[in-house]
Amino acid sequence: MNSASHPRPHPPSSPRPGRRLAYAASQAARVAWFFGQYALAARLGGPVRVARSGTGPVPGTRGVLDSLRALMARDLANIEAGYYRMPHDLLPAPGRVLAEAAAFFRDLPEVARRREDRVGVEVRDKPPPGTEKLPAYYRQNFHFQTDGYLSERSARLYDHQVEVLFGGGADAMRRQCLVPIFEYVRDRRVAECRLLDVAAGTGRFLTFVKDNHPRLPVTALDLSTAYLKEARRALAPWARTSSVVQGAAEAMPVADGSQDIVTCIYLFHELPPKLRGEVAREFARVLKPGGVLVFMDSLQKGDDPALDGLLDLFPQAFHEPYYAHYARDDLAAHFAGAGLEPIGVELAFMSKLAVWRKPQPMGEASRDCHKTVT
Ligand SMILES: C[S@@+](CC[C@H](N)C(=O)[O-])C[C@H]1O[C@@H](n2cnc3c(N)ncnc32)[C@H](O)[C@@H]1O
Repeated sequence: MNSASHPRPHPPSSPRPGRRLAYAASQAARVAWFFGQYALAARLGGPVRVARSGTGPVPGTRGVLDSLRALMARDLANIEAGYYRMPHDLLPAPGRVLAEAAAFFRDLPEVARRREDRVGVEVRDKPPPGTEKLPAYYRQNFHFQTDGYLSERSARLYDHQVEVLFGGGADAMRRQCLVPIFEYVRDRRVAECRLLDVAAGTGRFLTFVKDNHPRLPVTALDLSTAYLKEARRALAPWARTSSVVQGAAEAMPVADGSQDIVTCIYLFHELPPKLRGEVAREFARVLKPGGVLVFMDSLQKGDDPALDGLLDLFPQAFHEPYYAHYARDDLAAHFAGAGLEPIGVELAFMSKLAVWRKPQPMGEASRDCHKTVT
């Protein structure tokens, strides 16, 4: 799965210094912009009460920036190898990014208040209209964010908040999931394949998928109607081959054996432990035999010992009630227990990418989107 260990998909594009420079300049500006906001937010939000004793090593700013630099180098290498295109927003509209930052800082005092008072279930105590029937484990102010996942205002802020949290590296981490997607569709009829993004949020990752595979039919599934509204907006340029479905990952309204690719990014650390195995079984149920699960979530304890301390601090600084359990959970047991087989695992900055496949029973004809006859 590692791009370095695979034959290149296209003849490698000859290194183009202009493109490299454009990428380097835009990503450096991106990291400065979001990392700077992280530092400013930490200062404005006041001290965060965390127990440092018993935590693993915490990297300094230089260590984090080095890890971010390695992620960006890999992102560029994948682009140059032809796995995926340059990000579409290499040059984002200045008005938009300023407006997003302003909204983020306007909301910050409320986030700081919740953190200070350790208030993580405001949305359960005062539910936004229409959200009362959603599962209780979900009706929480994850990250201490305003309205949890339950309002359009939260959906509009979400992508910016995540980029600030990861110092500008969130999109580059998500893009690593495009490599196994490319490898799956490269010799298949892309318009006949089906991709389901579980817990798609605002659809940000699917916009990267569509940028690269515009004819690949995709579905965004999430519990939040507000986030799906944002996803529908993001996917509007590909409306004819995109759909959104409101539903729970543990009981998906999706037909058995209907998907070639299931993607799931940053869901598992927000699931109660007992649901993780159920969701893994749902992945296996909806995949076609031979189909692949492309899974990304936070690093777990021991994955990168230099960053272990951050995994201890994160659930103290941000409301993440299931994270400490997730960080030590046996993910492979969930996927293997669901009948999937491992393809590969690799780390990408603060995230881990794992690819699993639903076995094709011996002698059974393939029902996937057909390999090209050569
Ligand atoms: C941390 S966000 C990740 C969103 C997106 N995948 C990304 O890359 O940013 C978690 C998402 O999972 C959704 N979610 C949480 N629990 C869910 C469940 N049981 N079923 C479906 N979606 C769920 C939330 O509404 C939210 O959009």
